[in-house]
Amino acid sequence: MKPSPPIPQPAPALAPLPAEARTHGCGELRSADAGRRAIVAGWVQRRRDLGALIFLELRDRTGALQIVLSREREPRLHARAESLRAEYVVWVEGEVVRRAPDTVNPQLATGEIELHATRLEILNDSRTPPFSPAEPPPDEETRLQYRFLDLRRPSMQANLALRHAVTFAIRRYFDQQGFLEIETPFLTRSTPEGARDYLVPSRVHPGEFYALPQSPQLYKQLLMMGGCERYFQIARCFRDEDLRADRQPEFTQIDLEMSFPHPDRLFHLIEGMLAAAFAAAGKTLPTPLPRMRWEQALREYGSDKPDLRLPPMTDLAPRLAPETRAQLKLHPQRPLWAIHIPAVGELSRRERDELRPLAEGKIIRLFEDFTRLRRLDARLADAALEATGAAEGDLLLLAGAPEETRATVWELAAQAGAVRLAAAQKFAARHGRLRTDDFRALWVTEFPMFEWDERERRWMAAHHPFTSPREQDLATLEADPVGARAQAYDIVLNGVELGSGSIRIHRAEVQRRIFALLGMDEAEAQRRFGFFLEALRYGAPPHGGIALGLDRLVMMLAGESSIREVIAFPKTASAVDLLMNAPAEVPDAQLKELGLALRPAAARNLPKP
Ligand code: AMO
Repeated sequence: MKPSPPIPQPAPALAPLPAEARTHGCGELRSADAGRRAIVAGWVQRRRDLGALIFLELRDRTGALQIVLSREREPRLHARAESLRAEYVVWVEGEVVRRAPDTVNPQLATGEIELHATRLEILNDSRTPPFSPAEPPPDEETRLQYRFLDLRRPSMQANLALRHAVTFAIRRYFDQQGFLEIETPFLTRSTPEGARDYLVPSRVHPGEFYALPQSPQLYKQLLMMGGCERYFQIARCFRDEDLRADRQPEFTQIDLEMSFPHPDRLFHLIEGMLAAAFAAAGKTLPTPLPRMRWEQALREYGSDKPDLRLPPMTDLAPRLAPETRAQLKLHPQRPLWAIHIPAVGELSRRERDELRPLAEGKIIRLFEDFTRLRRLDARLADAALEATGAAEGDLLLLAGAPEETRATVWELAAQAGAVRLAAAQKFAARHGRLRTDDFRALWVTEFPMFEWDERERRWMAAHHPFTSPREQDLATLEADPVGARAQAYDIVLNGVELGSGSIRIHRAEVQRRIFALLGMDEAEAQRRFGFFLEALRYGAPPHGGIALGLDRLVMMLAGESSIREVIAFPKTASAVDLLMNAPAEVPDAQLKELGLALRPAAARNLPKP
């Protein structure tokens, strides 16, 4: 959207900022201030011209205030106010006056009073803005292109203030717990967190590149080896990965690491930090948080990010009669999950039909017609009711594995879990269980150490390669990588992964074994992580830590559904900064200086995805 051409009008006489300071924020005045002299400054949000009276709604970051200019009382000011338009910047001095009862505006916090102007200075004019910060937002592209206007929106101001309050509380908390805030470099080597790196070419060393950190992982471990014992950082991270509502190419972690850690103490510490962050947002998080092993999370929630606002799934396979299993063509060794969504009420025929597609393209078989099931096997139907505790008006779905399936129980569980969430979201308005202000967090522990990557045909670290296996799995790592469990933990809030961490490997020998298991030969391990293996050989203490997504935390505290709402200058889903127009081409001379030449496809500047 382009700005509309300016409406021809006489240029207003612009004044310098008066020497007298503001006495109040626009949104701060109340009826108790009636009779006071006040000085405010801000942006004209609305102007209503009633002839003899001009009403302005003036906005600053504290809120909005009605200003009255009377032709009779202040003819000069009234004439000046005639030139005011949306988003002009003004400075006003006046008297706070209680409004007549019939003109009170209950929509405004300051709605019981108004300011009768005795001095008005126009500090700056404005082009007609493409949208008003006082009105519902336009499309996101326009918002991001004019982010400086969009940030004037009260909800954006509130989100940024919330982000500040939460960050500030977290810093204070860690300070009290004896943590040092230490900055780590942006210009560094690749840190393997599973995404692509953003690279920065070096001018001084042509042909060589820095990588922007995907996280401060290696540095924070090196800080522990450096004897810092307790480190934290509100750390910017950079990842070139597919973006979603809760992912940005650059984002912020609440990153920490401690020496001589014990998971219990670390959990307690993070719960304390979250409690402080929630308190700063005027919310409470019930602690201590429950803990659940990865296997249980998958079996019962079909996800390593269980959303505890909904009941778990129950495996009915042990209660399934062989005849019913045969009739339903279900796999003999796989679970039959009962998915229970409470209080959806009576579903219409159409709503019920809409459930079936939830399993489309999936490897599971979905049974959404409970009456049919009862006709088929009344005992199974009763077992389902008993096991789930489902009552009248609840929705009960069964998800099972077709008899010919070759999928693992985990793959099947993940699909049943996806159906569970999709069904719950479909009826969210009916059951009201997915409220954004109902906070249910938990720890998920004992993740697998490795995941098999079919494309690369090798094991990958499920968390990252610096995560320690459980002590009892050390001896059998190479023989049984599938069975190895990591000393890794995630913190999950309402089905969103808020943070992830682990106890680290602190012995060079174990680290070398893990690199080898991940398919890195000795030479490559030396080339990429020689410095790190070396550091592990000089008395590295046991250490561990975690990183939480600050953007995600603030998003959830603000009740938003995208982290872009809590980041001042976010990028679009295709990683573009629409305001600054980044990324951008650079002049040939700059490329030359860096010793770079573009390949033909890039040079042709193909349309962006
Ligand atoms: P991990 O990669 O799991 O762990 O990241 C930790 C947390 O960071 C947040 N996060 C993101 N937020 C927004 N946009 C993104 N692209 C993005 N990627 C991750 C998530 C996630 O849970 N070094 C390890 C931590 C550790 O082991 O201490 C790490 O970075 O909330």
